[in-house]
Amino acid sequence: MNTIDSLTLTRPDDWHLHLRDGAALSAVVPHTARQFARAIVMPNLKPPVTTAAQAVAYRERILAAVPAGLAFEPLMTLYLTDVLAPDEIVRAKTAGVVAVKLYPAGATTNSDAGVTDVRKTYPTLEAMQRAGLPLLVHGEVTDPAIDLFDREKVFIDTQLIPLRRDFPELKIVFEHITTREAAQYVNEASAFTGATITAHHLLYNRNAIFLAAGGGAALRPHYYCLPVLKREEHRRALVDAATSGSTKFFLGTDSAPHPAQLKEHASGCAGCYTALSAIELYAEAFDAVGALDKLEGFASFHGADFYGLPRNTGRVTLRREPWLVPETLPFGDAQLKPLRGGESMQWRLA
Ligand code: NCD
Ligand code: ZN
Repeated sequence: MNTIDSLTLTRPDDWHLHLRDGAALSAVVPHTARQFARAIVMPNLKPPVTTAAQAVAYRERILAAVPAGLAFEPLMTLYLTDVLAPDEIVRAKTAGVVAVKLYPAGATTNSDAGVTDVRKTYPTLEAMQRAGLPLLVHGEVTDPAIDLFDREKVFIDTQLIPLRRDFPELKIVFEHITTREAAQYVNEASAFTGATITAHHLLYNRNAIFLAAGGGAALRPHYYCLPVLKREEHRRALVDAATSGSTKFFLGTDSAPHPAQLKEHASGCAGCYTALSAIELYAEAFDAVGALDKLEGFASFHGADFYGLPRNTGRVTLRREPWLVPETLPFGDAQLKPLRGGESMQWRLA
C-alpha cells in the first residue's frame, strides 16, 4: 500500500467560525487567516451583531487584525432575534452580509437574545428567502426535559421539518451536525439544504470528554462543546457524510475560543478551539478512512458553491510531518488551550 505524504488543495474556507472581539479577536484571527481564505463569522458577540451597520463595523475590526501579507476575507452574519426586522435583511444584503444565524434562545454560548419561537421570525425569514440570504441554524431544542444528547434529533422533528415545509426555497445550513439523524436528514433534503461538520466531531466521540487518551478516568473540559460530542456510531455517520463526496456537506470548524480558566471551571464554557490546526485535523480524519481525495471538495468547493460565491484560486500544501500542538496560546490577558494541545499532529500545513 502506498501512503500519500503530501496533498495540495485549492485554498480552503471555514464556513462556521467564532472570532470574538477586542484582544481575543486579535489573538485568534492570525490562526484562521493562515489556514483559510474566507470564513463565515458567527454573530454571537455580547451584545450580538443584529444590524447591518454592526456587521460592517465588526468586519473592519476583523480586517484590522489580519497580519500583513495574508489575504483573508471575513464573511459576515446577523444574529436572528424575535424582533429582527425584514427591512434589516435588505440593508444587510446590500452591505454584503452573507447569512443570518438562528440560535434557539439559551441553546449555547451567548444565545440569550436568540429566538424564543421561530414563528415570530417568519416575516424576516420571508425577506431572507426573497433576498437569497441563507439561514444558518444551531439545531438543538432547549427544552430542559429533553436529554442533551437527543436535542439535535428532536430539533429536526419539531423545528426543522416544519421550517423547511414553510420556506421551501430558503437556503438553510444545518450547522455543526453531530448525529446520524442529521446527516441523513441533510442527505435526503432538497438542494436548498446544506450542513457544516467540525473536525472534532469527525475525530472524537463523547468518550473524549470523560476519558483520557489512554482510557483512564479524566474529565476533559477542552472537549466540551455544543452540540456535545455523541456516540461512536454518530461519529462514523458524520465521517461517511463528509467523505461521501456529497456537495451538501462542507467544512465549518466551529472553532470557539474561551479563556482556559473559564473552560476549566465549575460551570465551564462550551467550545473547542481548533483554528490553529484546523485543516490538519480534517486531513487526519479523512486520511483515517482513506478518503484524502475527498478533502478538497469538502474543504474548498462545496461551501462556496452552496453560498453562490466564487471558488478560491490559491493553493495550499499539507505534508505528512509530525508536529506538536502548543499547550497554550496567548489570548489577551488570559490563555487559550487549543484542542490537541501538547499532543502530536500527523499533518502539517506548509
Ligand atoms: C460556541 C461559542 O462558544 O460561541 N460554542 C460551542 O460550543 N460551539 C457557540 C456555538 O456554536 O454553539
Ligand atoms: Zn458555533
